[in-house]
Amino acid sequence: MGISRTAVWKQLNRLAELGIEVESVKGQGYRVPGGLDLLDANRVREQLKPASSNLLREVRVLESVDSTNAEVLRQLVDGSDPRGLVCTAERQTAGRGRRGRQWVSPFARNIYLSLAWDFSEGASALEGLSLAIGVAAVRALKELNLGPVSLKWPNDILVEGAKLGGVLLEMSGDAAGQIQVVIGLGLNVSMSAATGSAIDQSWTDLDRVSGGRTPPRNHLLAALLDELLPLLQNFDREGFSPWRDEWRALDALADAQVLLHSGPDQFAGIARGVDDRGALLLETASGIRPVFGGEVSLRPAS
Ligand code: BTN
Repeated sequence: MGISRTAVWKQLNRLAELGIEVESVKGQGYRVPGGLDLLDANRVREQLKPASSNLLREVRVLESVDSTNAEVLRQLVDGSDPRGLVCTAERQTAGRGRRGRQWVSPFARNIYLSLAWDFSEGASALEGLSLAIGVAAVRALKELNLGPVSLKWPNDILVEGAKLGGVLLEMSGDAAGQIQVVIGLGLNVSMSAATGSAIDQSWTDLDRVSGGRTPPRNHLLAALLDELLPLLQNFDREGFSPWRDEWRALDALADAQVLLHSGPDQFAGIARGVDDRGALLLETASGIRPVFGGEVSLRPAS
């Protein structure tokens, strides 16, 4: 290529800064194992169904960002229409998980997707939204023959008990009126064991699930948006109830003994699915009680 060894080193250092794994091949040079499957906003747009394309305002693809959710929240300026604003990134330097956890977000490996919408009925109209988002994500994966995927209340996406992805909703505006919501979806696509070792629970990715036959990430993003955008358009009017049966059919912990942690409190019971508002139905000695999201976590009791 007519460039010096030092110039090559500079580029290799830049790749290392981005966390991209590079192998050296004796006598030949360097290579990125598996190559790089990069994001491209035009490719995503081209692959969308026309109905979703009409609901999309903008797709931003960033090389690096603290968090795509944080980025979309920054973009929500008073009075502007947030609907259909989409942001994705090759990597997140401060990816956010639920309950203050970090979301491990290596470069060009996974999907980090955030999308804005607004609702006029305040935060209560959003009960169940994150559960419906989980169902929509599973629909997209099934459409691409990627599975078998299940859901763990409130919004973990699992394959055989290992975490494949998760949903984080963040809001701004008036909790009793006009509210702007950022829906964040993280999906592990092709993460190395070394990078994944930073995750403090059992995890998996689409490459493992599909035996390496995962479609390109632009294709995955389009399939996800094809499900998510129409869901958001209808959610204000319909709420969670049309999604409930499908959620229950995907419930990884249906009828399982569970422990619920809510702050300092802990409740044991049997998970009996969810109600029309997305609350977990926990069967205890004193009957079935609905439990809403927030800082509650759920673990198999055994
Ligand atoms: C969870 O803890 O299960 C939720 C994880 C949500 C991660 C996604 S990645 C895209 C968006 N940006 C973030 O910082 N977090 C969400």
